Amino acid sequence: MSNKLEGFSNHASTFNADMDTAFAIHFGLSTLLILSVVGPMIYFAWKYRADKVKNEDIGNLTHHTLLEVLWTGIPVAIMMVFFYYGNTTMEVFRTIPPESQSMVVHVEGSKWKWKYEYEENKNGYVHKITSIFDQKDRDVKRGLYVPKDTNIILKMTSPLNDVIHSYYIPAFRTKEDVVPGRTTKLWFNAGKVGTYDVECAEYCGTAHSYMLSKIVVMEKADYEAWFNSEKKTPNEKAGAAVSKGQGLYEDNGCAGCHSMDDSTLVGPGLHTVTNKDAAYLKDAIVNPDKDVPEGFYPGVMPPFALPDADVAALVDYIKTGK
Ligand code: CUA
Repeated sequence: MSNKLEGFSNHASTFNADMDTAFAIHFGLSTLLILSVVGPMIYFAWKYRADKVKNEDIGNLTHHTLLEVLWTGIPVAIMMVFFYYGNTTMEVFRTIPPESQSMVVHVEGSKWKWKYEYEENKNGYVHKITSIFDQKDRDVKRGLYVPKDTNIILKMTSPLNDVIHSYYIPAFRTKEDVVPGRTTKLWFNAGKVGTYDVECAEYCGTAHSYMLSKIVVMEKADYEAWFNSEKKTPNEKAGAAVSKGQGLYEDNGCAGCHSMDDSTLVGPGLHTVTNKDAAYLKDAIVNPDKDVPEGFYPGVMPPFALPDADVAALVDYIKTGK
């Protein structure tokens, strides 16, 4: 994890050229506009400063038609250039290709993780990936894996009891809000193999700044090989033995807020609670505000509605690390 936006200066998606042109034009013309106002303002303030002009020298000018036409017409023309580039660029972003020519991934943004759910692969298996930022390793664990040169449509939502997030891929120059109870769409087509940062661009509470993910663009053949397997991610070994509890801990994004040792992230480290009884730990998962440990606040952790067996497996994992 570097401090730079990964891949930002790459022309990594089909949007980059349009977006960068629009940006350069807006930036250039805005600079011109501000200079054309502030420059003369400073000049006239200096030229007609109080000790240079006597009141009786000031003529009674009512208007100057040519000047007025110019200072209205020129800015309007410049604004129309803004409008043209803004509108045509936006059309490129907003024109989502037909699903028959695209790959759809469902995205759920919640406090404070991203979940990706793919369509069925040819064996009927559905990849579900929870992407979280590991605050201890300063690294994003797992991400969204996509093939190169393919239209990717993200159908995004957030749970009803959550808040607004925003899925932002700086290197692809695109961003879209992720809203509770609504489905928003974003699409891209990435032409360069690589790993690209994803950020949450809508302030969503305590761990907003840690709500990072990544998009890994792969060669089509590599992608297909992984997609039609049951491997969790392309770089994880098939059937790597994890206990049910550990699987749940990873898939529910617990690690985004709780370390397995005693270090405090957003919430307490889980090693500090292994002496608690199972009933307490169960409540801490399904009804977290019931008994909040000292030094932490209610309302931060959302309740997790999981089947009893899953809660038991999680409690087991928390207590034993297995
Ligand atoms: Cu999610 Cu900010």
